[in-house]
Amino acid sequence: MKRQAFPEGFLWGGATSASQIEGAYLEGGKKMDTSDCRPGNFEIPSVDKIKWPYRLMTKSKFEMALQETGMGEYPFRWGNDHYHHYKEDIKLMAEMGLKIYRMSISWARIFPDGDDEQPNEEGLKFYKDLFQECHKYGLKVYCTILHYSIPVNLVVKYGGWKNRKLVDFYVRYATTLFEHFMDDVDIWLPFNESNASVFHPYNGIGLVSEDRYAGERDPFVEDRQTIYQAVHHQLIANALTIKAAKRINPEVKISCMIAWFCPYPATCNPEDVLLAYKEQQYECLFFTDVMMRGTYPPYMLEYFKRHGIRIEMQQGDEEILAAYTSDLLSFSYYFSSVATTDPNWQKTDGNLKRANVNPYLKRSEWGWQIDPVGLRITLNQLYDRYQKPIFIAENGLGANDRLEGDGSVHDPYRIEYLRQHFKAMAAAIEDGVELLGYTMWGVIDLVSCGTVEMKKRYGFVYVDADDRGNGTFRRYKKDSFAWMKQVIESNGENLENGME
Ligand code: BG6
Repeated sequence: MKRQAFPEGFLWGGATSASQIEGAYLEGGKKMDTSDCRPGNFEIPSVDKIKWPYRLMTKSKFEMALQETGMGEYPFRWGNDHYHHYKEDIKLMAEMGLKIYRMSISWARIFPDGDDEQPNEEGLKFYKDLFQECHKYGLKVYCTILHYSIPVNLVVKYGGWKNRKLVDFYVRYATTLFEHFMDDVDIWLPFNESNASVFHPYNGIGLVSEDRYAGERDPFVEDRQTIYQAVHHQLIANALTIKAAKRINPEVKISCMIAWFCPYPATCNPEDVLLAYKEQQYECLFFTDVMMRGTYPPYMLEYFKRHGIRIEMQQGDEEILAAYTSDLLSFSYYFSSVATTDPNWQKTDGNLKRANVNPYLKRSEWGWQIDPVGLRITLNQLYDRYQKPIFIAENGLGANDRLEGDGSVHDPYRIEYLRQHFKAMAAAIEDGVELLGYTMWGVIDLVSCGTVEMKKRYGFVYVDADDRGNGTFRRYKKDSFAWMKQVIESNGENLENGME
């Protein structure tokens, strides 16, 4: 008899983040957060006119957003209105048979200013109710403590994560969550995509840039010193959060996470191979090396020296990093890229960073290169490196789906995308990788994080809302919904149906 690829208890799931779905940006005691200040991007960026500089938050853009206290043209303020639909959304996830739901908590719902002494009871109640709804259906919870959005007060008053005070505010926030929800959550993740800070300093570390940088493509127009100092604060906050959680429950499972870019050398020219290797170290592995191994890796210390970066450490920082490492490793995977010494290589878009084009791969409508084999390679590589359980916290296809008059949505491209990625996961498990679960990104359509628009849809469930928030916000099952249901029922054995 053929051996089952996916182990019993494999955690099939879906993922979202608070700012991209909840809306209700000023309800229940919540105040504005950094995502609420990102304006909508209402034209589709075509692949050759990528609006990369759009991702920079400049001072004047930020101030304009603070002055607009209504919904304005700020899509994160309405999201997909999950705040008012959460029972229905969780019911749909349960109907699909999902085993785990990766969600995130909005910091500004719990501590509206970030530096408040006491938590907001209404915010705590919202998540308690939401977790109870999950338990009702036996749905496990994977909880991200911080998925990009921080209370705006922490930016206005303290300058974001470049200020070490955020470590204390964050640890107080995380500890409050542990005190209230320890028994409700199965896996905790302190920071979504820890390496994002380098590519999107506003989302990653709450950094608002000088207006003169508007239009620049490289986040390092900002000084690297500021970015890496803020990263250090987050790494310390991560370790202290693990400490706080283990004090309450020594058995707790805490993950770390990075966005993975899978760079291939463009040619077998050793210079290209070296570049691919170095990119991987600086852009991704540095972060997981610290959080999984507990120490700054030598290649990064040398990088800091070369770039004149001095990380200010407090006494005891190194010991804290060494003492509190993560139990498992999560990553997001959407595309692979190419490392080349050729500066004229054709470019395309990708998650967090632009990528060099790989002629062997197809691309999504948003220019992201589709590469299931890259997922198998990644799983092998990361498992080899740390020998700790792995979780795919995000993966999926953003597409411009169409709602038909009869309420159906035909998304065979998504089914095909997922099928190929699930096959790659099965192959990686057969390679020996300990893969715990998979949460498909944007399980219910939500506002896109990179391009701040609704038309880039990921879900198994369609939400009737457009980029400007017009629509009924009613939920519709896409074809991929039924397909995923049978994949889960068969624990990943039945991947072939659903293309008719
Ligand atoms: C990840 C983020 O980087 O990519 C998510 O954690 C995001 O928040 C996802 O939504 C997909 O990116 P996008 O730009 O298509 O929303």
